[in-house]
Amino acid sequence: MTSLHSTKKIVIFASGTGSNAKKIMQYFSERSDITVVYVLSNNSGASVLDAASEMNVPSDSFTRQDLYESDRILGLLKKIGPDLLVLAGFLWKIPAEIIAAFPNKIVNIHPALLPKYGGKGMYGHHVHRAVLANKEKQSGITIHYVNEQYDEGQTIAQFKTGVSVADNIDSLVQKIKKLEHKHFAKVIDNLLSEQ
Ligand code: GRF
Repeated sequence: MTSLHSTKKIVIFASGTGSNAKKIMQYFSERSDITVVYVLSNNSGASVLDAASEMNVPSDSFTRQDLYESDRILGLLKKIGPDLLVLAGFLWKIPAEIIAAFPNKIVNIHPALLPKYGGKGMYGHHVHRAVLANKEKQSGITIHYVNEQYDEGQTIAQFKTGVSVADNIDSLVQKIKKLEHKHFAKVIDNLLSEQ
């Protein structure tokens, strides 16, 4: 039996809907070896906070000042001692002090095949619009470590989907979300199980 002591802890950062965060919480909800211990959002009205409370996962929101000009979030994280920080649709940049405090322990999911369609401003519909405008034949998702540059940390896994001329932003969003919901939690599971 796994003791509570050896439970690996995940903290999720999310800015909005949190459909990925919800999938991850559901995936690990019956597990005793890996637990989502906290959900943090920069948006106090984000649906992800409702999802966390439905799943009985503690959650909180924070301001820019909390993140960038105080050690409130860093202090909280140090107290929790997470094995992995998961950015699931988190739109702000993680400050250097947090990256330094959790080396190789922060992962992000990006809705395209990096290194294409990444970097500042490349999020949400902006990514899919650019993919469609360039008439790409495929797109997908990239799960990667977070470093100090947007979307440039080492790739952990990529999964692809076809893009056809019939696709529009909405249909591409659906395809990408399907991939994200299918793979993100499993990749996290593998990462933590390998540690
Ligand atoms: C996902 O498409 C993810 O790739 C991107 O932000 C989106 C978040 O969606 N980083 P949701 O809030 O998990 O539904």
